[in-house]
Amino acid sequence: MQFQNIKEKILIIDFGSQVTKLIARRVRDLGVYSEIITPKDIKQFRNFEKVKGIILSGGPSTVTKDKHQSVPKNIFSKKIPILGICYGHQLIAKIYGGKIRSSKKRREFGRAIIIKKNNSLLTKNFFNSKKNVWMSHEDAVVKLPKNFRAIAYTQSSKLTIIENRKENIYGVQFHPEVTHTENGKLIFKNFLFLICKIKKKWNVSSQKIRLIQDIKQKVGNHKVICALSGGVDSSVAALLIHKAIKKNLICIMVDTGLMRKDEFKYTFKIFKNKYNFNIKLINASHLFLRKLKNISNPEKKRKIIGALFIKIFERESKKIKNIKFLAQGTLYPDIIESRSSTGSKTSKIKSHHNVGGLPKKMNLKLVEPLKEFFKDEVRVLGNSLGLTRNISYKHPFPGPGLGIRIIGNITSEKIKILQEADYIYINELKNSGLYKKIWQAYAALLPIKTVGVMGDSRTYEYTCLLRAVTSEDGMTADYFNFPKTFLDKISNKIVNNVKGINRVLYDISSKPPSTIELE
Ligand code: XMP
Repeated sequence: MQFQNIKEKILIIDFGSQVTKLIARRVRDLGVYSEIITPKDIKQFRNFEKVKGIILSGGPSTVTKDKHQSVPKNIFSKKIPILGICYGHQLIAKIYGGKIRSSKKRREFGRAIIIKKNNSLLTKNFFNSKKNVWMSHEDAVVKLPKNFRAIAYTQSSKLTIIENRKENIYGVQFHPEVTHTENGKLIFKNFLFLICKIKKKWNVSSQKIRLIQDIKQKVGNHKVICALSGGVDSSVAALLIHKAIKKNLICIMVDTGLMRKDEFKYTFKIFKNKYNFNIKLINASHLFLRKLKNISNPEKKRKIIGALFIKIFERESKKIKNIKFLAQGTLYPDIIESRSSTGSKTSKIKSHHNVGGLPKKMNLKLVEPLKEFFKDEVRVLGNSLGLTRNISYKHPFPGPGLGIRIIGNITSEKIKILQEADYIYINELKNSGLYKKIWQAYAALLPIKTVGVMGDSRTYEYTCLLRAVTSEDGMTADYFNFPKTFLDKISNKIVNNVKGINRVLYDISSKPPSTIELE
């Protein structure tokens, strides 16, 4: 474990819920270090002295089957407070002799109203009598386990919150970690500070020195290579590594020609001039354009862009002698996902190419200084390293770039048109103070031309689609509710300033059922 200096932590046992990482985020947001481990790993886990509380996550399996995921019973005898969520709640009930039934009658998906029955430390100030929460379960606890009492219920499930005050064990059937649960954060706050009595000590910036030391120790005098894209993750990872080993970090920047307007130049300027990085620039835009000619299938585009990127990166890095390490901006959620507790993978909607994780053949050891952090924490870390906020607060940008935002085939003319429209849109968002309220925004170019009228002339031009979403992690998203004045202004500005566009649409679909990108 990287953080030997952590004195107190919360352990989260992951039974495979899609939202387990949100539990860890909520806990860290409250200033407490949390770590996710699998049910398999908890069996080998010995170092309990730092653990001040355990949270059992939700998950897709059912305790009603003989063979179900569980935890070693001895974690209940360590006098460490335990909170079970959904599957975790049912597991606690099962272990303590309660009854769980799987029934269509009792299942609850989405919003539900819970009603208070008894007071509990866990729900202090949480509700007067009722609260809106978010549920996702078919199994329900139908008989109270021994030494537990009921704290709250819903119309369909009578034991929605339960507690064993003496042993400090709590179960909630709903998901306090998702934003749809009103004031869910308070459940964690109460659990952490009233029940576990843990102190608020977690602070990302304070990890900076330790991280730099770790890199120095790991890398020694060897060289590290890094693909620098100018995104938050690769920028913060590179900055940390640069602080540790200076010129022994060599960054490769590949210009695919599919970046936002001026983005490539800007990134180069910042890292070269401001931070004095050792950067190798490769202009490959003509190559990408040639390989993408007449390709309109989104997955084919992704494959071509990904494969070409790796090819160029490998070729260029082979020209540099004595490289031992490859730096990657891998984040904690990537690590959690790659060691799924159930081994099952959610079905692939789109193949996501990212620069990270790809050059496997190169036989390099990995340096991944951000692998214990969430994106928001990486932004804070970036700020504390002096990274310009233009980068640390940048919206996510997909690896294939504008390649998947020009719907249909890609031409240099279309790239230019889109870059202009996108530039106006993003600048307007920044100028109006909306950029930081939005998780991701972009302009796309649709492959349809429509008729318009400008002055006295008829036009027949492309359609531009604007997208802006709010989200926590990109898994689900809502479209951003712009004031009409903003939409009026931006549509006007784009049509008046970008030759080639005569119509602007705003995408009002959420994810699911749509996705954030169009392709
Ligand atoms: P979707 O469109 O799947 O996007 O809702 C979720 C998030 O992933 C990003 N995205 C990609 N990132 N390579 C990437 O590196 C890709 O091929 C890719 N496709 C989507 C998207 O921008 C959003 O942040």
